[in-house]
Amino acid sequence: MCGITGYIGNRDAYPIVVNGLKRLEYRGYDSAGIMIYDGKNIQLTKTKGKVSDLEVITNKEEERKKGNIGIGHTRWATHGVPNDVNSHPHLSKSSDLVIVHNGIIENYDSLKKELITRGYTFKSDTDTEVLINLIEEVKKEENCKLGKAVQLALNNVIGAYAIAVFDKTKPDEIVVARLGSPIAIGVGEGNSEFFIASDASPFIEYTKNAIYLEDEELAIIKLNKGIKVRKIKDDSLVDANIQKLKLSLEQIEKGGYDHFMLKEIYEQPKAITDTFRGRMLPDEGLIKMSGIDDHLQKFLNANRIIIVACGTSWHAGLVGEYLLEDMARIPVEVEYASEFRYRNPIVTANDVVIAISQSGETADTLAAIKLAKSKGAFVFGICNVVGSSIARETHAGAYTHAGPEIGVASTKAFTTQITLLTLISLKLAKSKGTLSNSAFRMYLQNMQLIPNKVADLLKIDDKVKEIAAVYKDAPNCLYLGRGFNFPVALEGALKLKEISYIHAEGYPAAEMKHGPIALIDENMPIFVIATNKGHYEKVVSNIQEIKSRSGKIIAIVTQGDTQVRKIADHVIEIPETEEALTPLLTTIPLQLLSYHIAVMLGKNVDQPRNLAKSVTVE
Ligand code: G6P
Repeated sequence: MCGITGYIGNRDAYPIVVNGLKRLEYRGYDSAGIMIYDGKNIQLTKTKGKVSDLEVITNKEEERKKGNIGIGHTRWATHGVPNDVNSHPHLSKSSDLVIVHNGIIENYDSLKKELITRGYTFKSDTDTEVLINLIEEVKKEENCKLGKAVQLALNNVIGAYAIAVFDKTKPDEIVVARLGSPIAIGVGEGNSEFFIASDASPFIEYTKNAIYLEDEELAIIKLNKGIKVRKIKDDSLVDANIQKLKLSLEQIEKGGYDHFMLKEIYEQPKAITDTFRGRMLPDEGLIKMSGIDDHLQKFLNANRIIIVACGTSWHAGLVGEYLLEDMARIPVEVEYASEFRYRNPIVTANDVVIAISQSGETADTLAAIKLAKSKGAFVFGICNVVGSSIARETHAGAYTHAGPEIGVASTKAFTTQITLLTLISLKLAKSKGTLSNSAFRMYLQNMQLIPNKVADLLKIDDKVKEIAAVYKDAPNCLYLGRGFNFPVALEGALKLKEISYIHAEGYPAAEMKHGPIALIDENMPIFVIATNKGHYEKVVSNIQEIKSRSGKIIAIVTQGDTQVRKIADHVIEIPETEEALTPLLTTIPLQLLSYHIAVMLGKNVDQPRNLAKSVTVE
């Protein structure tokens, strides 16, 4: 959570830092702030609200914009309510040092008490203001330079951080450091300029050269001189590895869509194709995935597979459980990473752990991975963001290649995670002989048709919009599905909650009679996934039970269905495919439905209240 940006070079820092903040707003958007150094003074502007609110202030006072060095912050509050004072950047007592911070300093309270005894006072409720004063105190005590002071201070800190610190008395450098929260440094030609950001999107139009700091590393970025990276613990020098970015500006812009979420929903045919491109070879009857091929025995000999994830990725993990058990006959458990990490789970060296994360930065998932590794398990990552912390922390893995997902509500990440899990399940099934060759080939051929079927489904957007208009004012909604589509029901409900703030619950259809049925009356819309294979007849019975209690039924059925059409208030048809592949299709109308309801209710679709795209705190 929280996004940080920075610039040091010869251009005006303001537009770079502010535009960078806009690209990072998915990380948090309850307050924003910027510091520009104009050659003499620190110009500090911060406010509760979005980056656009910050611009309203800075646009009135051009003086605040002048200077070639700047740092900025967009906040998702942890310590202290969102208000102007708690917004970043924070100044030290002397006002010489300035900091922006993403993360949580857990021992801030004891550090604060100690600093108070040494004469420090605090304006905000934040842990960040404590950190910047700790750095100032260390710098004074040790009579050292900023880099050393940051390093020594961080050695006294417990928690997580990505920070950028500037010192007015030495205005040719910015010091950055990370533990648990990401930092990318863009490197300009001949060290003439440097960009700092929580991810590379803020500087993609300026440079393709980036250094990603590892945990417990600190970098001193000196204008015209270069970057020195050190280990925070032992001060040893680290070889900074410059990576060539593949990200393009086009990928991170809305491209004519009203919202990123809509763009990302419509990108799914391409995203799914990109996920299986080069991996799935239907003509040869093969699935090639080096991350699996290189460790095949680990998977085949595994006692069980444990999937760890959070949010939407956890729902994809549930689909993975159904796929892996059904196809490859390997026992699977799906765990919320946040529970797994603290519940003293039984994990052995014979377990394989699959960690799923779009961002690759989710703190709980990262901690679950570390725990599993400490117990000797082999950990495989499914991530979207290339080079992310989870991608680096796992023993092996596969990228979804969905392209940047910016809308806070996850869409294409979900379907591409399911695509990868399907490939893995099929590959393991083939290797284990739990699926016949002909069934394997049949699945590959059907998988290949999925992107076109998704594209066809997107054409019914207008119909989904009409249904959205009917139910947009419902206070509660129920989502039901069985088998492979039970997790889709959970995901459908989550999408609605996230962006429209309507209370929604996802349930296995048959469980309805054990509780949710009591909620059903003529005001309750119930979205039921009733595709024609699997448990079709059983779901039809569930639909009858709802109808008998006057509930409104919106059913997702297979093209040509006649039975459900007779009972349901609305039907949405999906193209025919194998039951195991239906989640890739049934999800699409539910995404569109949530999107349209949220738009009709006037909600901020891409930046829903209280949420953040990347949750780097526990
Ligand atoms: C946040 C996001 C969700 C996401 C979850 C897990 O809550 O808002 O969309 O599913 O984190 O994120 P990850 O990046 O690990 O998939």
